[in-house]
Amino acid sequence: MKNQNNPKLNLLNLFLKNQIQVSPDALNKLLESDHPLSYSQTLIDNLKNENRTILLPDDIKANNLKKETSKKSSYRILKNYTQTYHITGIEDMSAYFLARLDYFKKQLRGRLSNTISISNLRKSGRDKISLIAIVSNKTKTRNGNYMFTLEDYSGQIKAIAVGEKVKQIAESVVYDDVLGFVGSAGDNVFFIDEIVWPDIPIKEEKKDPNNDTNVAFISDLHIGSKNFLSDKFQTFLNWLNGKVNKKTELYPQLSENIKYLFIAGDIVDGVGVYPTQYDDLEIPDIYKQYKEAANILSQIPEKIKVFISPGNHDYVRLAEPQPPISKEIASDLYELPNVSMVSNPCYLKIEKELNGGFNVLLYHGTSMDSLIPMIPSLKDGYKHPEKVMLAMLKRRHLSPPYETNLIPQPNNGDPLIIPSDVDIFQTGHVHSNGALNYRGVTLVNGGTWQAKTEFQVFLGHEPTPARVPVINLKNRNLILIQF
Ligand SMILES: [Fe+2]
Ligand SMILES: [Fe+2]
Repeated sequence: MKNQNNPKLNLLNLFLKNQIQVSPDALNKLLESDHPLSYSQTLIDNLKNENRTILLPDDIKANNLKKETSKKSSYRILKNYTQTYHITGIEDMSAYFLARLDYFKKQLRGRLSNTISISNLRKSGRDKISLIAIVSNKTKTRNGNYMFTLEDYSGQIKAIAVGEKVKQIAESVVYDDVLGFVGSAGDNVFFIDEIVWPDIPIKEEKKDPNNDTNVAFISDLHIGSKNFLSDKFQTFLNWLNGKVNKKTELYPQLSENIKYLFIAGDIVDGVGVYPTQYDDLEIPDIYKQYKEAANILSQIPEKIKVFISPGNHDYVRLAEPQPPISKEIASDLYELPNVSMVSNPCYLKIEKELNGGFNVLLYHGTSMDSLIPMIPSLKDGYKHPEKVMLAMLKRRHLSPPYETNLIPQPNNGDPLIIPSDVDIFQTGHVHSNGALNYRGVTLVNGGTWQAKTEFQVFLGHEPTPARVPVINLKNRNLILIQF
């Protein structure tokens, strides 16, 4: 434990491991730098290139001791839902679904030919045509085909997906999906040949060759639970502060270059979230849970910008979008100078000053509980959240089936639509890490800091606690660090 906190010893170990001798004066000079470990690693690489084995004070350039000011974080919050609206009537809901339909019509129209509305189907003859419609019902016929009720502004129609290729996709369609359907009209029925997802445009993964910034993603701390892994979280905090141990010494440079930390919900375990929770709580008071959270998170170095959004265990309404955890309940978190409390979901741009920045979508992921049982190909979704996230991304929607867990935002469209220019999409909730690159978008789940609970054992879930995915913006590599 003592070694972790001794920067001099850490430096000496690094040189020893690389079989480079270092003079005492050089060592002292290095200790004055902003980032001794990463700077030492650069010097070691240089010496090795020159086949030298001793580091002398003259090798250390004064202008390299202090890093340039671009190490400062820069961000812009693009979408943050802070208002608490209430549903006043059916009009709010129909306006919400029309906004969703409208949005995806615009997205899909260019990719479909002969698009017509449902009311004009009769006039279409036997030509190949396309519909953009919302799925209001789905059933499986006796011979294994999928039958849908499709709706648009003009009316509704029964539709059937026949043929092996389209059947496979039809299997994963859920109600309230807004999709493109290509096929032909029969008598009061539409025969579907092809189903088109809204999807993400094909694009190159965005990288910034001059920007060695790292971004870390965590979620589901569940502070206040008896199962919160405080020791492991402390190791993570130590690592952020440059104090490495046997496990984390491989990654000193990674932690030095971390400028942003995203925390995607379930900061605390909450109170009364499930019937027998009281027995599982170390801190059975919601105010004290957030006080403890602030106390723990205050150890994050101030140079790291932290974004905290809520999850289903936090003390905010369950309906999405969830507003930020309030100041009344978590005043101490608001006191932390480097922390921004944001909504769930939240959309923001980091490194906004540089090369157009990177767009990050932060979403806790509660809707995964609805999606996983509905889509047969996602039956291992709790183990592979990236597959569930991909299903969301192709639909460009965070919670396609409306499960009474959404509050429409007047005149604000559909807050759960996934923007097309997203670069990084993070979730949490399932307590299992997972990552995937799809069309230039990195999908990443923050895992958890809660040990496996009896309830998870009962559900057959396999949590992967205390692992932190870190993404580098220079090369978009993702490293998963085990603490
Ligand atoms: Fe959680
Ligand atoms: Fe959760």
